[in-house]
Amino acid sequence: MVPGARAPAASVLRGLVALAGAAVLWFSGAAEARVLLTLDDFGAVGDGIANDTQAFVDAWTAACGSEEQAVLAVPVAKAYQIWPVQLSGPCKKKLKLLIAGTIVAPASPDEWAGRDPMKWLYIYGVDGLSVSGGGTIDGVGQEWWARSCKRKKTQALHFEECRGVSVQGVTLQNGPQFHLSFTRCTDVKANFLRVVAPADSPNTDGVHLNDSSRVQITDNLISTGDDCVSMVGNCSDVRVRDISCGPGHGIRI
Ligand SMILES: *[C@@H]1O[C@H](CO)[C@@H](O)[C@H](O)[C@H]1NC(C)=O
Ligand SMILES: *[C@@H]1O[C@H](CO)[C@@H](O)[C@H](O)[C@H]1NC(C)=O
Ligand SMILES: *[C@@H]1O[C@H](CO)[C@@H](O)[C@H](O)[C@H]1NC(C)=O
Repeated sequence: MVPGARAPAASVLRGLVALAGAAVLWFSGAAEARVLLTLDDFGAVGDGIANDTQAFVDAWTAACGSEEQAVLAVPVAKAYQIWPVQLSGPCKKKLKLLIAGTIVAPASPDEWAGRDPMKWLYIYGVDGLSVSGGGTIDGVGQEWWARSCKRKKTQALHFEECRGVSVQGVTLQNGPQFHLSFTRCTDVKANFLRVVAPADSPNTDGVHLNDSSRVQITDNLISTGDDCVSMVGNCSDVRVRDISCGPGHGIRI
């Protein structure tokens, strides 16, 4: 065995991982997407410390207004700190949000001062958005849990008034409370997700539905402090299948 043989092996592996990441874009690009935009194109830093909110908003505006189908990518191996934002539709074409890296919330609930706690990544009025990419949405909920008893439910990734939205193959972790919410949405898929928060974190629901219909929630691993799936209001045609759920409270209707 040559001394130092491990280092080249590791870098070959990294190269393959990078290649696999590029291939995903390549194939989806050939099949349906014409334009690839990344947060970095709009000045995001991606060090987990800088405020990349405006870059995210600018990238969304460009992707959503694109005349050709766009992929908006959150680059792999980087972390983008995002303050509460509203990203609005409708978009000109179907949009793909490819989260390969990490989106992190500011750690302190004080950063929400004067803002609606129900909205961190708040996506309003979209039709035909898919979220995928294998990355992570980290709500950094630790300080929220320590100060529990908030009246309004904080919602990490929250869609309102949406149609044809799918969220697949990403990790949602340590949400202040609800991890993924749909309010007044139809034709929704939430599949192949990992949703994780500590067992003792208060009110950390996995997927929350409010006044939504035609919803598929399948093949998810949900391990949070409260309900895996909860529903309020007028929800219909909701299919929940193959969910690994625990140690929280299961499914609440
Ligand atoms: C981060 O940027 C967003 C958007 O420009 C802004 O609303 C927010 O207040 C900024 N946060 C800080 C701490 O500067
Ligand atoms: C359900 O959605 C309505 C708006 O459509 C809102 O007023 C209400 O607070 C929501 N309830 C929950 C528990 O999220
Ligand atoms: C509940 O939702 C269904 C499907 O969206 C709709 O047809 C029905 O009118 C709603 N019922 C009420 C009481 O709002």
